[in-house]
Amino acid sequence: MKIFIDSADLDEINQAYGWGVADGITTNPSLLKKAVDKRIASGNKLDLETYIKDILKTAKNTPVSLEVTEITAGRMIEQGKKIFDMFNPVANNVNIKIPVNPAFKNEDETHFDGIEAVRKLSAEGIPVNCTLVFTPEQALLAAKAGAKYISPFAGRVDDYLRKSCGMKFDKSDYYPAAGTEKSGKVIEDNGIVSGIDLVSQCVEIIEQYGFESEIIAASLRNPRQSREAALAGAHIATLPLQVIKDMLKHHKTYEGMKAFTADIVKEYVELK
Ligand code: E4P
Repeated sequence: MKIFIDSADLDEINQAYGWGVADGITTNPSLLKKAVDKRIASGNKLDLETYIKDILKTAKNTPVSLEVTEITAGRMIEQGKKIFDMFNPVANNVNIKIPVNPAFKNEDETHFDGIEAVRKLSAEGIPVNCTLVFTPEQALLAAKAGAKYISPFAGRVDDYLRKSCGMKFDKSDYYPAAGTEKSGKVIEDNGIVSGIDLVSQCVEIIEQYGFESEIIAASLRNPRQSREAALAGAHIATLPLQVIKDMLKHHKTYEGMKAFTADIVKEYVELK
């Protein structure tokens, strides 16, 4: 499984690439806002174009998702092309993130604009990461429309399921891949019992029919969920830096380090 870093923060991105564990980057408007706010709060001037170009150079031969902010097909396509033309020449590694469905509510008329934008940009050779996927059927349609990447949001599914049954939780708390029961009833969202279940069903459909799209397990919040994404066959997991850090930790590793360090013989250290 490839690991992308889910961040627009250049310090975090540099860290993950420095460790040799990052195979790509995903950004979104909220991650970009967080990075911009941090830069400005630290008293640094921000030239966003240069900043994004620095991210692309850091990622060198690995893909970087930049998201559109428009919500109608025509404008998403126009903005997607503009972003691609502006930034792809830097390191030839840009893909355009398009929401599978940019509507805000059922009454809106933009339900099909996302899939149209995925289709048109993909047909023009611009790689698309189809985002905000919450059902396997959205993933199927995104694959048919030609999306290079498809991003099911596992953590947000878990949040929704936990909230719907009144569970108290922290965002980073583990939620079982097999789901939970309350009063003898499985907590589910139209047959999806957990975020990892969503990832797993998306992977199964993509593999079963030989689509070329890659599933990015997104919105992952803890190491065990990342492990389960790998076991579910996700092609990629996009992870915040903190989750990558947490994946390295184990109390028995600390204990082992203490014991080995206590046993060091000075002759070994002084070997010439
Ligand atoms: C995916 O590409 C998104 O940027 C991201 O994983 C969303 O994660 P969140 O639900 O933690 O905001």
